[in-house]
Amino acid sequence: MPALNQTDFTFKRTLVTTALPYANGPLHLGHLTGTYIPADIFVRYKRLRGEDIIHIGGSDEHGVPITIQADKEGVSPKEIVDRYHALHKAVLEKLNIAIDNFSRTSLPIHHQTTQEFFLDFERRGILIKKVEQQFYDEAKQQFLPDRYVIGTCPVCQFPEANGDQCENCGTYLSATELINPKSKLSGNTPVLKETLHWYFPLGKYQDFLETLIESHANDWRPNVINYARTWLKQGLGERAITRDLSWGVPVPIQSEEAKGKVIYVWFDAVLGYISSTKEWAQKQGKPELWRTYWQQPDTRLIHFIGKDNVVFHAIMFPAMLKAWNDGNPDAQYIIVDNLPASEFINIEGKKFSKSRGYAIYAHEFLEKFPADTLRYIIAANYPENRDSDFSWKDFQNRVNGELADTLGNFVKRAIDFTNSKFDGIVPADCSLEDWNSIGIDWTQTFRELETLFEEIHIRDACFKTMEVARFANKFLTDAEPWKTYKTDRAQSAKTIAISLNLCHTLATIFSPILPEASEKIFNMLNINERAWESAKLPKLPAGHRLSGSSEVLFKKIDDKDIAPELEKIEKLVQEFAEKEQQKVQQESSQKSSIPDLKPVITIEDFEKIDLRVATVLASEKVPRADKLLKLTLKLGNEERVILSGIAEHYTAEEMIGKHVIIVANLAPRKMRGIESQGMLLAVTDSTGKVRVIEAQDASLNGMPVK
Ligand code: MF3
Ligand code: ZN
Repeated sequence: MPALNQTDFTFKRTLVTTALPYANGPLHLGHLTGTYIPADIFVRYKRLRGEDIIHIGGSDEHGVPITIQADKEGVSPKEIVDRYHALHKAVLEKLNIAIDNFSRTSLPIHHQTTQEFFLDFERRGILIKKVEQQFYDEAKQQFLPDRYVIGTCPVCQFPEANGDQCENCGTYLSATELINPKSKLSGNTPVLKETLHWYFPLGKYQDFLETLIESHANDWRPNVINYARTWLKQGLGERAITRDLSWGVPVPIQSEEAKGKVIYVWFDAVLGYISSTKEWAQKQGKPELWRTYWQQPDTRLIHFIGKDNVVFHAIMFPAMLKAWNDGNPDAQYIIVDNLPASEFINIEGKKFSKSRGYAIYAHEFLEKFPADTLRYIIAANYPENRDSDFSWKDFQNRVNGELADTLGNFVKRAIDFTNSKFDGIVPADCSLEDWNSIGIDWTQTFRELETLFEEIHIRDACFKTMEVARFANKFLTDAEPWKTYKTDRAQSAKTIAISLNLCHTLATIFSPILPEASEKIFNMLNINERAWESAKLPKLPAGHRLSGSSEVLFKKIDDKDIAPELEKIEKLVQEFAEKEQQKVQQESSQKSSIPDLKPVITIEDFEKIDLRVATVLASEKVPRADKLLKLTLKLGNEERVILSGIAEHYTAEEMIGKHVIIVANLAPRKMRGIESQGMLLAVTDSTGKVRVIEAQDASLNGMPVK
């Protein structure tokens, strides 16, 4: 089934976007893997085919990630975004990312675009205003975004959980769920204060979104479909799209109630794709050109993202565009056609962690190794279906074995031999018969390559391309033109003619992945045309003069080149292991001593607590919360749901049928959008294992425990 905004015509043009990285720190391997490198490979491939395609992106300069970094460094948010936007831009250039526009969300054109959407929704009565309770720091006189509140995690009891998410157990939280919350700004306990916010009714677009996702069930990656389905299953509800903050796009309403409020960063960031395209069009001197890419249904829209951004691109942004389209018949936006989200890339087998400094930064990498080698190693390890791994040893092996010894060695031998023995001139014709006689099925090879590039199977495309280089290298080695040169010069000339044509084909098919090396080959061959089609047939006639230059395409990487990198990583791993061990020791020493008794209470106090026997009817893991089980319990004639932080100690199945004891009159509490109606009694033993307290049998169900 075709996507919603397309019928059965083929696409005339393509708009590629890369997720806007926050301008709060340098670009790392994750950014390059999720977005820039796969996108650039795809875009360069399409350009070689002569297609109309633009690549649009920029820096995400709003939101709490920016202000937190600014607070940390004691500088203004502006200073932070200026610094990192410039660094992002420089790195992308050095990496040869052929991006058409790298914008910033702090530009007026972006603020206008965001406000235009907000106002359109507001005027058409789409947005809902609601007053809610939010944490407020009285000393600092400001509302606290969830990220600015720290406290004990209600799920795993980790004492330093952030208000939006617990780093220890991964549970997404809202600040009001924290136990003993503290403001990160003043350290004080925040107070709850009423504040008004605008909400976007995401739930209204549920049907539209389900149709969108299901229409792509067979052409989007399974991970993307699964994430989207999980969100849709949970129900979408209403999402606050304003915040009490001073940094961001101001809420464009002239009233007391909108004062000091900005639009939520994700609402503005996704619109950054549109405003960046507008800026690009202006720079072309054709300010209306952006509409061709956003508002003509024969444009194909592809977002390159990391898996953590799926919900915003599969759910939120399409819903926003749909909301706009419903009220603006003359300005209809296209909706996403493909969403190639990557999984994550680990480093030496361990998860990336910015806070621990466990990361590989692009600008540091590029100071030591060429851009093509970084592009190649990411393409070769692209995590399409599952997380993959970067290791320095693998990097060294691939650069030396594949780039230097295979591709580089082949090209150099062919060119140097031509220069030294044949005056730098293609010494013979390579006929179609010659071309087809060397043992490679060109039709099949190109059919495979095209499918892999078109369908964005980056790793397989990279592998298949290298296979052609392997073939070429072997062909030359086996044909031994340096020997036949003495015995059968015509044969030697033929081998070289075929090899030079193979160099041309390799330069072409490698150019999406290795643009610098490819350019070097084209230049040595003295060829100006770059076109995919021309790689399929022999291109260089007898008598064609090469440029006469000969370059080494790839320098080999020595052990000593990667030794400092390995050392750095080892040190980080060791530091982390030591900290972990300290933590475990601390915890076990705390656990071995029996906790102090609490102050005395009266019998009346105790009788307030209604303990009951309940039976577990159903049990399931809560998505994206490692420690949480959602239990459905039977309590007498009633059913209730309790969330319990025991998922690491009991499987969901194990819990079913247990007769547990619950605090039945505990005020309900919302976690992860699910209301937990009570609490399970459990004991933690000296090893840290949690054990649920159980009653004898079903006959006790519903009975009070005294
Ligand atoms: N800045 C976000 C992040 O790094 C990505 C924003 S993508 C966009 O996770 F669509 F909102 F632009
Ligand atoms: Zn936790």
